[in-house]
Formats: sequence, structure tokens, C-alpha cells
Amino acid sequence: MLEVCRLSVRYQEVLALRDVSFAVPPGTVVGIIGPNGAGKSTLLKAMLHLIPRQQGQVFYRGQPLPRQRVSYLPQRSHLDWRYPVTVRQVVMMGRARHTGWFRYPGRRSRAVVEQSLGRVGLGSLGDRPIKSLSGGQQQRMLLARTLAQETDVLFLDEPLAAVDHPTEELIWQIYRELAAEGKTLVISCHDWGETLLHYDRLLLLNQTAIAFGVPRDVLSHENLQRVFQERHDQPRSAPSLFC
Ligand SMILES: Nc1ncnc2c1ncn2[C@@H]1O[C@H](COP(=O)(O)OP(=O)(O)OP(=O)(O)O)[C@@H](O)[C@H]1O
Ligand SMILES: [Mg+2]
Repeated sequence: MLEVCRLSVRYQEVLALRDVSFAVPPGTVVGIIGPNGAGKSTLLKAMLHLIPRQQGQVFYRGQPLPRQRVSYLPQRSHLDWRYPVTVRQVVMMGRARHTGWFRYPGRRSRAVVEQSLGRVGLGSLGDRPIKSLSGGQQQRMLLARTLAQETDVLFLDEPLAAVDHPTEELIWQIYRELAAEGKTLVISCHDWGETLLHYDRLLLLNQTAIAFGVPRDVLSHENLQRVFQERHDQPRSAPSLFC
């Protein structure tokens, strides 16, 4: 079980998250949805202790969740893509916990990296500098790095932003395989299309948890109104799809 208990985060005067709680069993794919600025990235970072929590705890199998047990895919737009490294080197960084930062990676780590690249369809692009990748290829490389970490819990921040439809299908196939292995995935989502129905659970966030549950319930007209009327902005396709 992954349990988030009453998590709150403050950035100086901005209260970004207030009292967020939810719990899911292993093998669950959880989507976090909410408008821009709702706190989706903040929630993932706070769950990982990448930013300080004002209050709250995260447990995995009854124990505080250690950072090393989680693979984290950061939001693509938060990264500096001019950094002079290759795709393979970035994916190998996912093995640092296994090999140590300054040791030459062993045979197993090299095999896991090639396998992860192949799994996301980047087997032939390992030597490419990351600055030459398209947006969708960047996302697939970040996912490969996450897979290479071989953890039971994965936090992914907008992994489907900028990917085309076939890539999205490939990534969903990978999510399903990971969930079938008993892994827990918590994924921040950027769009409001039908793809939201694929998640096992959705957390609708707007500073606090507005709703948590199966997609059809969470995406009720009432819940969406609570989020978007207050903010005077609209999700692109949600109202017609889900009312
Ligand atoms: N480093 C920071 N310092 C101050 N405020 C911040 C910081 N990072 C985020 N915030 C604020 O916290 C709130 C939540 O931001 P966050 O990035 O978590 O939202 P999000 O739901 O991930 O948005 P998006 O859909 O744009 O990715 C916003 O009001 C944002 O402006
Ligand atoms: Mg974000």
C-alpha cells in the first residue's frame, strides 16, 4: 500500500498543497489531474522529499517511503536539454544507485540500460546527444531512465506531454506491464481527453484533493465545476466528454 497522509506544502507565502491524502494498493496506476498550478508537480516532489513538507507523511508497505525506492520522471519542461550528454548516459544515470556514481557500470547495468532503451523504442538512438531529440523522444528517454532504476514505485510528471498517439499507446502498454508486476505508478497528467479513463484511480487536485477514486466518479460534472468555475478557466475537452 502507498499511503499519503495529510500532505501540505508552502512556498514562502504560497500555500501550494493543503492536507492531501490518498491510498492505493500495489499494482495501481494513479493519475493526478488538475489545472495548471494545482500542485501536481509539487505533490510528487513533496512525496519524494525533493522539497520540504509543511506537514504530512508518505508510507509504503507501512514504513516511511524512502527516496531510493522511487523512480522519478521530472516534468520535461523543467530540464535543461542543452546539457552535453547522450541518451544512453542519461539512462545510465538511472543506474547510479546500483553502480555508484563514479564506478564503471557493470554488465547487468549495461544490459538493463539497453533493455530499457529498447522497451521505449529508442534502441538505435543511444549515442545521440539529448539536445537533438524531439519532444516525444525526450519523454521516452526519461521513461527509459525511470525503468532502468527498477523500483517498485514510480512517480512520473507529465510523461505523456508532447508524445504522439502511437507513443502514448506504447507507454500505456509499459504502464500496464509495470502494474501487472505489482508496481505502483503515480502520474501527473496534462490533458483532459479520454485517456484519463485508462487510469485505475484519479486524484483531482486544486491545491487540495477535490476528489479521489475511479475515473468516471472523479470526472463528474460537479467535481470539474468545483475546480474550473472557481478558476474561470476550462479543461479543453472534459465537459463534453464527461458530463
Ligand atoms: N519554487 C516555487 N516557488 C514558489 N512558488 C512555487 C514554486 N513552485 C511552484 N510554485 C507554485 O505552487 C503552485 C503549484 O505549482 P505546481 O508546479 O506544483 O503546479 P502543477 O499542477 O504541476 O502545474 P502545471 O500543470 O503547470 O505543471 C503554483 O501556484 C506555483 O506557482
Ligand atoms: Mg507540473
